[in-house]
Amino acid sequence: MSDLHPERRNFYGRIHGKTLRQSQKAYLSEDLDSLRPRGITWDENPDRTPLDPAALFGGKDIWLEVGFGGGEHMVAMAARYRDVGIIGCEPFVNGVAMLLGKIRAAGVTNVAVHPGDARDLMDVLPEASVAKAFLNYPDPWPKARHHRRRFVTPDHLLPLHRVMKPGAEFRVASDIPDYIRQTLEEGPKAGFTLVSEGPDAWEDWHSTRYEQKALREGRAPHYVTFRR
Ligand SMILES: C[S@@+](CC[C@H](N)C(=O)[O-])C[C@H]1O[C@@H](n2cnc3c(N)ncnc32)[C@H](O)[C@@H]1O
Repeated sequence: MSDLHPERRNFYGRIHGKTLRQSQKAYLSEDLDSLRPRGITWDENPDRTPLDPAALFGGKDIWLEVGFGGGEHMVAMAARYRDVGIIGCEPFVNGVAMLLGKIRAAGVTNVAVHPGDARDLMDVLPEASVAKAFLNYPDPWPKARHHRRRFVTPDHLLPLHRVMKPGAEFRVASDIPDYIRQTLEEGPKAGFTLVSEGPDAWEDWHSTRYEQKALREGRAPHYVTFRR
């Protein structure tokens, strides 16, 4: 079995951070269960039977956010686009708790949460089921020997390409020039067509914690749009 076999997937990021506040513990214990689609984890779906996309959001278009962090962008998009359903993936428990707090505050109902690796979700999404995908400030993995951990590698981009609808938009935001370089190189190799790239954000962009941190530290955001 190669180390790329899904059952042996490694997740290199952080799963736990600071101790959760009582309110955050309550969000996790009270809200996550009903927002979490079943059949994504290997435990629940060892045969990797595809999900029924219509069951997710009752037939609405499905958008996917990979690594939503604190959830600012995901909740803002869900509030703005009530006629789509957004599923977000994030293995970092503190991020999930922050997202849940924002979901409560905004009162959005067109969201679903996979508290884990996007690859596990992509395994079980049917081909051409996702109408838009967002990758905001992915982990940069600055050391050259870690570049293969980046999301913009065939391990992630090929499954993403498979689950996206033809013509669907795939957006990437990053403040790391070398990450943008790799994105522009790997996106087309995985079958995506470059639409635009540069310093101007999308008209409906909602900034994130990591973008704010980059701006404070003097790094410049860069935005890339592909089409499937
Ligand atoms: C640098 S943070 C950015 C968070 C947020 N998007 C923002 O802009 O503030 C990257 C996030 O991606 C998550 N992540 C990394 N690999 C992932 C994967 N395979 N599936 C889902 N999330 C992932 C990490 O846990 C981390 O929270």
